[in-house]
Amino acid sequence: MAFPREFMDELLSRSDIVSVVSRYVSLSKRGAGYLGLCPFHNEKTPSFSVSSDKQFFHCFGCGVGGDVISFVQRIENLEFADAVTKLAEWAGLEVPQSSFGHEERDKRKRALEASRAAARFFHEALKGEDGERARKYLLGRGLSPATITRFGLGYSPEGWSNLLDELVRQGYTKAELLAAGLVTTGKTGNIYDRFRDRAMFPIIDARGSVIGFGGRIMGEGEPKYLNSPESAVFNKRKNLYALNLAKSSKAEFFILAEGYMDVIALHQAGFDSAVASLGTSLTDEQAHLMSKYKNRVVIAYDSDGAGRAATERAIDILKRAGLDVRVIVMSGAKDPDEYIKKFGPDKYRNLIEGALPAAEYRLAASKQSFDLSDDKQRVLYIKAAVSQLAKLENAVEREVYAGRIAKETNVSRDAILDEAARERKRILREREREEKRKILDPVGALMPKERGARYKNARSAVAEEAIISLTASDLILAKSAGEKLSGKIFSSELLGRVFDIIYNRARNEELETDMSVIAERLSEDEVSHIATVFARNGNLSRDALSDYIETVLREHMRYEAENDDAAILAAAEFYRKKKGQKNG
Ligand code: UTP
Ligand code: MN
Repeated sequence: MAFPREFMDELLSRSDIVSVVSRYVSLSKRGAGYLGLCPFHNEKTPSFSVSSDKQFFHCFGCGVGGDVISFVQRIENLEFADAVTKLAEWAGLEVPQSSFGHEERDKRKRALEASRAAARFFHEALKGEDGERARKYLLGRGLSPATITRFGLGYSPEGWSNLLDELVRQGYTKAELLAAGLVTTGKTGNIYDRFRDRAMFPIIDARGSVIGFGGRIMGEGEPKYLNSPESAVFNKRKNLYALNLAKSSKAEFFILAEGYMDVIALHQAGFDSAVASLGTSLTDEQAHLMSKYKNRVVIAYDSDGAGRAATERAIDILKRAGLDVRVIVMSGAKDPDEYIKKFGPDKYRNLIEGALPAAEYRLAASKQSFDLSDDKQRVLYIKAAVSQLAKLENAVEREVYAGRIAKETNVSRDAILDEAARERKRILREREREEKRKILDPVGALMPKERGARYKNARSAVAEEAIISLTASDLILAKSAGEKLSGKIFSSELLGRVFDIIYNRARNEELETDMSVIAERLSEDEVSHIATVFARNGNLSRDALSDYIETVLREHMRYEAENDDAAILAAAEFYRKKKGQKNG
């Protein structure tokens, strides 16, 4: 717990989840809770539910869920302590200064300061005598001195402790440098510079803090780019390269490239809204982050097979975040950096202007893999195209593309629209069935995603879910359930743990249990799972509690008995084998 107990209690009692969520999502009352359009994925029918009773949110569509703090963390892309600070502001509370939370923030602040100092050191080194080769390298790749300054590029000198010595001299401790990912610990516990003899690309977050580095080797060798490790200050999934510059570009869209050099080349050519993910493929968090600044993203990935595959993935991720997606189709160069060098910025501007809407890009991509003069292949192409048409949400779009496919294939537009309508009905039916399954059939929907949360005894788990859902907000039920069973006999360890929390609060403190209490004691994935549990068990009858308890007790006994049998059988097998060995 990073903040004092009393402060957190006060904060949570003043931060009602319904009013906090309402700052971002328009909610309407539905049964015991509230419903709205999920802010974390793109949807047209509301499946985002908020319970004021148990103080949690949950989306039936994308599965996210949690308490009021994790909601703010997710939607604002904040660390825990920062989300608490924001809530405190809204609630008119002062964040205690002497708290441990303060200390944590201080550590973060020191790591950020160390990173900034490192960026300065690398940049100076690039300008100095030792930096000559790196200077030549960067200029040789077509970067101007102004670009080098604008991106704060640098050089990490050869040797094991250049940065270490300098930052220790400036007053940073080894622990602080480790926390910032600037130094590494060797096998014998010795500490040395992580980045040596590389061209350095500082990574700066949207607020302007240096959070990490990519370091490029200047000759052959592995890895080509060495990146800062994940740390309290550097989260690869949640940040984008050059967002600090691109977010204030006048362009109405981001250009999403694959690499550091592409981004820099694009900016230098005047395309100042280019960003890239950080050495991993694009994440939902990054898409969400982009959607806070602009509505459209133009994908400018490499033209090779890997780039095309990454484009396919990125389209889905960006669309999920509600972004309008276009794709640049480029030939004659492998990436934007090379293209601009070969053909110049004006040609690239044409490519951006001609970028295809995602649907059209997909049609064009599948068309390329078929020979339309061959009847068989033409039929295959029509099938592929129709299935893509059917996925489009917009009827006008479907008509337009159907017309186009008709022309290309010499098949009537109506025939194509008919096929698409049939396919679409099938998709919608399937989607509906899936939704129903998720909401109505708790057994079928038991979180196949998270290994830790998978149930080994579904029948018992259904009852266990019902028990924690009924008892969390009802002291009397909690106490009476606790007299008959304990979390230890639950088939699901996680549900058992939650039940014990609920019962202990009810018994010792006469308090009900809401999501914020649970969130303090469980991991992020576990909290998400419990939010799902609460959401799908919202309308249970109190009268059924004794049946659920009985089920858990019965299943527990059956399990014990079966395991005893299993133990006996295993022992018998063991002795039989042993005997066989002796005799043989
Ligand atoms: P690329 O290999 O396409 O590099 O990797 P690039 O951006 O074109 O770089 P240059 O032009 O050869 O200098 C694309 C991105 O993948 C990440 C980096 O973010 C890079 O910009 N990457 C690549 C790594 O993190 N590590 C690697 O070893 C390679
Ligand atoms: Mn490149």
